[in-house]
Amino acid sequence: MKIITEYQQFKEFRSTIESISFVPTMGNLHKGHMTLIDKARSYDSHVTASIFINPLQFNDASDFNNYPKSLDDDIALLSKHGCDSVFIPDSSILDNIKEIKAPDTALYLCGMNRPGHFDGVLTIVNKLFEITKPTRSFFGKKDFQQLTLIKNFVIENNLPIEIISVETVRELNGLAMSSRNNRLSESDRKKASKLYETLSSIKDNSSNLSNEIIKSHKDELTKKGFDVDYLSVCDPISLKDLEDFNSKPFLVAIAASISGIRLIDNILID
Ligand code: PAJ
Repeated sequence: MKIITEYQQFKEFRSTIESISFVPTMGNLHKGHMTLIDKARSYDSHVTASIFINPLQFNDASDFNNYPKSLDDDIALLSKHGCDSVFIPDSSILDNIKEIKAPDTALYLCGMNRPGHFDGVLTIVNKLFEITKPTRSFFGKKDFQQLTLIKNFVIENNLPIEIISVETVRELNGLAMSSRNNRLSESDRKKASKLYETLSSIKDNSSNLSNEIIKSHKDELTKKGFDVDYLSVCDPISLKDLEDFNSKPFLVAIAASISGIRLIDNILID
């Protein structure tokens, strides 16, 4: 696997390759990321991953500083999964970067309490697209709002990139895999499975949904020690909260912290 850290060097390297399937990440890679790599490999083209912990998308300096790092293991894992090259830029990638302002879809769900987060995501993804010029790029449904914003960004800017979405990979207990899970204590990790249980229960009872039921799920999570940022039943395109729950499909999305560690998950009901 070729490792490139200079973006000028990547640009030169890019000119020698016909087509790239691109998987952007922030590292601390796990099975969730690897399904993106495996999916990328199922297309007949060069597979490039990137690893960059993007400060522009963090609202909180300590969250950025504590973001888990495991570069050697990441490189070994990518290589084991047959990734052909990895781009690991340093912070100079941010020099004179073109700032992207996210549209209104960014104001709901994770955008409510994380102002500027999705501006930061789109800004770095746009820059990575400019450098890697992928034919297609892969994103996980775990970050449904991010996926939606990137799909729309590509359409609105006529970028010749196919965005491919990949199902959420979960632990055996249902907890969506995340780099942040490493920071959970053993007992919090068990407790965290309650998030997916809540989503599944809403899905199983989706014909009988009301604002009261959603609130009671929220209250139950709060009682169990979660700090719930949102539990939202929303339109999967606009991401706006639904007023009535009869028109499917809809997305049930949640963000909640446990011992200060923020976790997100979602389930699509159609
Ligand atoms: P990161 O959190 O490292 O995630 C990289 C990609 O892996 C994203 O597309 C994310 O949705 C996907 N992913 C993470 N956990 C997953 C899981 N359990 N199942 C399936 N896919 C999963 O998302 C980012 O980085 C950044 O915002 C980035 C797009 C790289 C821009 O900085």
